[in-house]
Amino acid sequence: MTIRPRPLVAGNWKMNGLKASLPELAAIRDGVMAGAFGRAEAAICPPATLVSLAVELAQGSELAIGGQDCHAKVSGAHTGDVSAQMLKDLGVTYVIVGHSERRTDHSESSAQVRAKAEAAITAGLIAIVCVGESEAQRRAGETLSVVGQQMDESWPAGATAATLVIAYEPIWAIGTGLTPTAQDVAEVHAFLRARAVKLGAVEGAGVRLLYGGSVKPSNAAELMGVPDVDGALVGGASLTAKDFLGIAAAYKG
Ligand code: PGA
Repeated sequence: MTIRPRPLVAGNWKMNGLKASLPELAAIRDGVMAGAFGRAEAAICPPATLVSLAVELAQGSELAIGGQDCHAKVSGAHTGDVSAQMLKDLGVTYVIVGHSERRTDHSESSAQVRAKAEAAITAGLIAIVCVGESEAQRRAGETLSVVGQQMDESWPAGATAATLVIAYEPIWAIGTGLTPTAQDVAEVHAFLRARAVKLGAVEGAGVRLLYGGSVKPSNAAELMGVPDVDGALVGGASLTAKDFLGIAAAYKG
C-alpha cells in the first residue's frame, strides 16, 4: 500500500470577510485545536486585508494561513500587488495561484501562474496551483487535455511534494452547487497524478492533489474518499466554522 501524504483542507475566502468575520476564523481555529480535522491539515486563505490579523489569531495553533495570490516579482513598481515575500514576512504558509477567477478576471496565463508559483516557493511558501476546465470544454470532451496543458505550463521548476499542491477545480463546479461524479473526479485525479509524476518524478508522486468546486459537508466524505484526492479547496463553505468543520468530518476517525 502506498503511503499517502497528509491531506489538506484549504478554505478560500475569496473577496469576502471583514474584521467582523474574525470570530468565525477563531471558531475554525478552535475546531482545529480540538482535533476536528483528524489526520488532515487545515488552512484558511482570507483576503489580503485580513492576512495579518488571521496569522495573529492562528498563532500557536495548527491552523495554517494562506494568501490568495502573489506577484511574480519580489518587490517593485506594481501598484496594488502583494509579493510572496510580503506574505512570508507575515507568517503565511500557503498561497493560491492561478485560481480560475484570477485566470478569468485578470487574464492570467499559465506562464504567469508558473512564475508566481516559483516566486512563492522561492519565498518559502507552499504554492497551491489551480487547474480546471470550463463547462464547454468538459462537454467537448477536452477536460484531460485542458488540465494536462495547464499542469505542464503552470508547473513550477524544482517543485517538490513539500512545496507544491495542485487543486483540480472544474470551473463549472465553482460556486454552483454542481460537482462532478466521484468517477469523474477519480479519472481526472489519476490523470493528474500521472502527469505530476512525469513532471516531478518521485516528488510529483507525493504532491497533494486537492479537489475544489462546491465541496460541502454533505458531499465531502464521498469526494475526499476518491483515490488520489488528497484534500479539498473550499470556497463558500469555508466562510462559516459550521460548514468548514462539517467538511473536516470527512477526515475524522
Ligand atoms: P466553492 O469554491 O467551494 O464556493 O465552489 C471553490 C473555489 O473556488 O476554490
